Amino acid sequence: MSNDNNIDKILEISVKKNGSPSPWTINDYYSTNNLNNSILSKKSLEISDNNKNETDILNEYEKIIINNSYTHFGYPYNLSYDYEEIFRFMKYSINNLGDPYVESNYGIHSRIFEKSVIDFFAKLWNINEPDYWGYVTTCGTEGNLHGMLLAKEKLGNAMVFTSRETHYSIFKAINYYNLELNIIDSTVMGEIDYSKLSEEIEKNKEKKIIININIGTTVKGAVDNIDKICKIIEKNNIKRENFYIHCDGALFAMIIPFIKDVPQLSFKYPIDSISVSGHKMIGCPMPCGVIVTRKENIKRLENKIEYLNSLDTTIMGSRNGQTSLYLWYGLRKKGYEGIKQDVFFSIENAKYLNSQLNKNRISSFINNNSNTVIFEKPNNIDFIKKWQLACEEDITHIIVMPNITKIKIDIFVNEFLDCIKKFGNITVKKNGQLSKLINVYN
Ligand SMILES: Cc1ncc(COP(=O)(O)O)c(C=O)c1O
Repeated sequence: MSNDNNIDKILEISVKKNGSPSPWTINDYYSTNNLNNSILSKKSLEISDNNKNETDILNEYEKIIINNSYTHFGYPYNLSYDYEEIFRFMKYSINNLGDPYVESNYGIHSRIFEKSVIDFFAKLWNINEPDYWGYVTTCGTEGNLHGMLLAKEKLGNAMVFTSRETHYSIFKAINYYNLELNIIDSTVMGEIDYSKLSEEIEKNKEKKIIININIGTTVKGAVDNIDKICKIIEKNNIKRENFYIHCDGALFAMIIPFIKDVPQLSFKYPIDSISVSGHKMIGCPMPCGVIVTRKENIKRLENKIEYLNSLDTTIMGSRNGQTSLYLWYGLRKKGYEGIKQDVFFSIENAKYLNSQLNKNRISSFINNNSNTVIFEKPNNIDFIKKWQLACEEDITHIIVMPNITKIKIDIFVNEFLDCIKKFGNITVKKNGQLSKLINVYN
């Protein structure tokens, strides 16, 4: 397909998709132009005096970024956004160092936008003023590190219960804070095994308990059932002061609130903190995220820093003030309805991808209300690299984000079929992920 054709078709799709401002989708077309890699070699990029070809280097780099944006299928980043109106602020050193609610003496900050973003999420997750505190983080990982730190500050030495399919950032926090770990098995489709969790909590109910609930696992997009988990805590009569629940909602904390008939991600449950990534469902050119917690939890962490004239309550010291502005702008332009449309658009296209793969006899799986499609790992590394597929054992996934249209899905499926013709299918590992999925579903 020629580039012009591609642009026309993709433009048509993004114009049809109301609600979210997505003109940049049209820029991520794939070009088959030969890229000049030599200009981006280590030698060419060397920092020394009297270099003159920076413009050529940057032009070539941009071509690569555009190409790779088009074939970006494996990671949950919404590349469909338009922040041009706020580019002008990029020339300022906007830094929200210290606590979002306590202004430091440094005047070039975006705390008003940061607090507005936190207010949006507090409302989305059902907690009222003045009961919450939160901040804009550098990413979902920082939110998880912060949530687990609050848990440690509340409970001291505690045992963490989390499923096998948990993101590595939670295990990293457990390591950093020297917490005891109790890994709970997951079902084949990635949800925590509730009967195992219940057994383990009953066995350890004299201990202080931290639970990490996965609001969407990384590989399979499985959402742990918050209602069932809270009932396990209740059944075991664990006192409120003896447990802490953190919800890792990197991607799905922006999806679940828009889905009907599922247990809601809500502070009406006895949960303590929720972390979400900002560059995932909302979309932002810089990694970022948000954590919201109950106000009482942050009190234990507060430390007055004289030279900041603010409180040290966050993981980082200097904090990116641009991302608060970007998140505020993205949320404000899309609004609740725009995000809802992005969520439904992604889930619908994920179902389409799943059905197209199955139709072509490629084993493919999807959880309910999920935009993560799991299927057999392609048998060719160049194909995997081109489409930037995240693989685990013999499976891979595509996370269908708002910039992945049906047109792109068709191009992908056709190329995958060509790849299978040329290189065959991956060998299914005995007792591996793929064979377990196939056994459960056939
Ligand atoms: C479930 C889950 N938690 C946490 C993270 C980390 O988020 P970030 O990449 O924003 O640090 C991810 C990233 O994909 C994730 O899938």
